[in-house]
Amino acid sequence: MTGKSEKLISLLGGQPVIPVLKVKDAADAVPLARALAAGGLRMIEITLRTKDALEAIRRVAGEVEEAIVGAGTVLDPKQFAEAAAAGSKFIVSPGVTASLIAAQGDSEVPLLPGAITPGEVMMALEAGISFQKFFPAEQAGGTVFLRSLASPLAAVRFCPTGGISALNAPEYLAVPNVVCVGGSWVAPDEMIREGKWDMIESLARQASELKPI
Ligand code: 3PG
Repeated sequence: MTGKSEKLISLLGGQPVIPVLKVKDAADAVPLARALAAGGLRMIEITLRTKDALEAIRRVAGEVEEAIVGAGTVLDPKQFAEAAAAGSKFIVSPGVTASLIAAQGDSEVPLLPGAITPGEVMMALEAGISFQKFFPAEQAGGTVFLRSLASPLAAVRFCPTGGISALNAPEYLAVPNVVCVGGSWVAPDEMIREGKWDMIESLARQASELKPI
């Protein structure tokens, strides 16, 4: 395990699920992060899929001490820099590119890049990134595919995301090269829109207690 990947796994602190969030209104970010942390999910990913995403990250980083906020759906070095400047503690990308690898080389902030094929996994590994996102997990072959990467690419650990829910998460957590899973099921759009923070806290609590099956 290499430096920044190790740092990211230790920040995660054994949390089994990273919520993947779409925050449409920055005003929702703080109560949302507080609810998730109260339910046991301190590390959260706010995706850059909404116009308020960077402001949401800024607010959580500044106001929610108990949360560890990262940026997701980061596609290029400009977004990497903006997300890091907003206070992201880690950066998630759906894929791996040479320019994102270069951006993380110039930054203290760890990159969790997406990879599926052995070639993509090797490209990130060559850059010293041994903790990677396996995305889109279900669509790309799920746990069977992940298990088949374990022997030839033994140095790599994964956070699978894409199509994962409370139902199949335990199967993923049982795969030896899986550290945690990511998913949006913990904070559904309509619950955020309606400010159902208690329900999100309870979904987070269930997710934080998930164990390998
Ligand atoms: C991601 O970016 O990790 C995915 O969009 C999350 O996938 P899900 O919505 O299927 O959980």
